[in-house]
Amino acid sequence: MPNETTTSTEFAAIDHRRSAAPGQEWWRSAVIYQIYPRSFADATGDGIGDLAGITSRLAALRELGVDAVWLSPFFRSPQRDAGYDVSDYCDVDPIFGTLADFDALRDRAHELGLRVIVDLVPNHCSSDHPWFQEALAAGPGSPERDRFLFREGRGENGELPPNNWQSVFGGNAWTRITEADGTPGPWYLHIFDSSQPDFNWKNPWVWEQFRQILRFWLDRGVDGFRVDVAHGLMKKEGLPDIVEVAESGGLADAISAPDEVPYWAQPEVHEVYRDWHRVLDEYEGDRVLCAEAWVEPLAKAALWVRSDEMHQAFNFSYLGTPWNAARLRSVIDESIAAFSAVGAPSTWVLSNHDVVRHSSRYGLSTYGAAPASGIGPKSEDKPDDVLGLRRARAATALMLALPGSAYLYQGEELGLPEVIELDDHVREDPSFHRTNGEVYGRDGCRVPIPWETAASAFGFSSSGESWLPQPPVFAHLARDRQQGDPASTLELYRAALALRAEHALGTGELAWLDGFGDQVVALRNRGVIVVANIGDAPVPLPEGSLLLASGPLLEGSVPVDTTVWVAVN
Ligand code: NOJ
Repeated sequence: MPNETTTSTEFAAIDHRRSAAPGQEWWRSAVIYQIYPRSFADATGDGIGDLAGITSRLAALRELGVDAVWLSPFFRSPQRDAGYDVSDYCDVDPIFGTLADFDALRDRAHELGLRVIVDLVPNHCSSDHPWFQEALAAGPGSPERDRFLFREGRGENGELPPNNWQSVFGGNAWTRITEADGTPGPWYLHIFDSSQPDFNWKNPWVWEQFRQILRFWLDRGVDGFRVDVAHGLMKKEGLPDIVEVAESGGLADAISAPDEVPYWAQPEVHEVYRDWHRVLDEYEGDRVLCAEAWVEPLAKAALWVRSDEMHQAFNFSYLGTPWNAARLRSVIDESIAAFSAVGAPSTWVLSNHDVVRHSSRYGLSTYGAAPASGIGPKSEDKPDDVLGLRRARAATALMLALPGSAYLYQGEELGLPEVIELDDHVREDPSFHRTNGEVYGRDGCRVPIPWETAASAFGFSSSGESWLPQPPVFAHLARDRQQGDPASTLELYRAALALRAEHALGTGELAWLDGFGDQVVALRNRGVIVVANIGDAPVPLPEGSLLLASGPLLEGSVPVDTTVWVAVN
């Protein structure tokens, strides 16, 4: 772990010996960049990104101006759900490298002043995990079986699943096992794929394992954890039938799930996070827990970030809000009210590895409401990419002006669109396969990102291999093509991040401004006026000094689908 406080005049290396005063912690206003390891940079040339590849490219993120990186899972895993099916929580999967590669990544990131957040997957593990294999071998009634949720089936011979729960990825949430002697056995619960058995969080043994996993990574110097399915760990006592089974349409369905879904947002789950908060408190420096909890309304999501629980919770209500001024004003108001009521910042986000990229979402006829099932060749609503990118740039400029923290997803700084034209045979998302292709799923936002226009695989991989094919349009969107071009999306992001830091917008306060009309989101944060024109006619450019514009301006006015930042005194 580097201990030096500064390595350049521009940034300070991360030093865990120092904690900020309460209320000043870095995560309250940080911009965190999500790296999806298999699609970021491939150093070995096998077509799958890896840790060494990430390390070699970290300087580009420093230049971009983010404060931290979150790495999606790189742990040992058979990769049936792209690493969200973990078979060893304390080791690196060989496709991504080794623990030594992780240490090198952490050191390089910390030296560059970038914090490192890793992904924790506590709702389920891989069915290949020794814990599950031991549970299968140990037989009925054993302590090993009690680590998971095994139940007898219904019907005369237990041939029907124990209840009517459906997998988020489609199909039944239960799979029946065959005992060692060949007889049909009980069923185990998997809210996701059948290769992802859910843990029994009523069992103290499970609590202890996860404390140890947290300490393993904290001892290794990580700055925090993004917690997968943080609303799902506890299931309602008795595992009752769900009253109304929603048609499964991927993760985004969960956000509209009614309160009474017996596997989401059960009150006991909060005790787990209080326990983990205490574990993090054993460590110096400001470490962070970020909840992936698809919970509505926002006042309920805010329960995950009460002062003795987690620190951040992705604001998925914001992510799901269409490009509409009234809707945006109201979700921003609701967010600030809900999170500040518990002393937490709002954690803004527009894209991640589970949703259609926002540059394509905003080009749909739904104006950005996330299609739960992804977009593919046969989708009826295909995005207008030009319109989508224009709105996405305006949306990002609005988001980065808001007080609180924000997450960016790799490639959005390049304006990458969702890749729609992927052949069925290259798709890997289990939700595509479990629904027989009815749900396209998430591969379209996971295509390896372009670094250099002229390099093989656009610089993703020296061998030219890429686990998902990259579309030709990536040549125009590669990082080197955009670098230094003031009109590019990359330079827009870079400028916005620098100005956000310079004006301390992340720790500011929002005041709405009147007089711009209903179809405009106009606000002031510290000395910056922000105007997002979401209407159908240009609006006057506010007086002051222009800091940022998400697109070309007209003489004295802000065109539609454009956001500006103007400094006033
Ligand atoms: C949420 C993750 O973001 C997603 O990619 C994964 O498939 C599910 N949780 C299951 O772990």
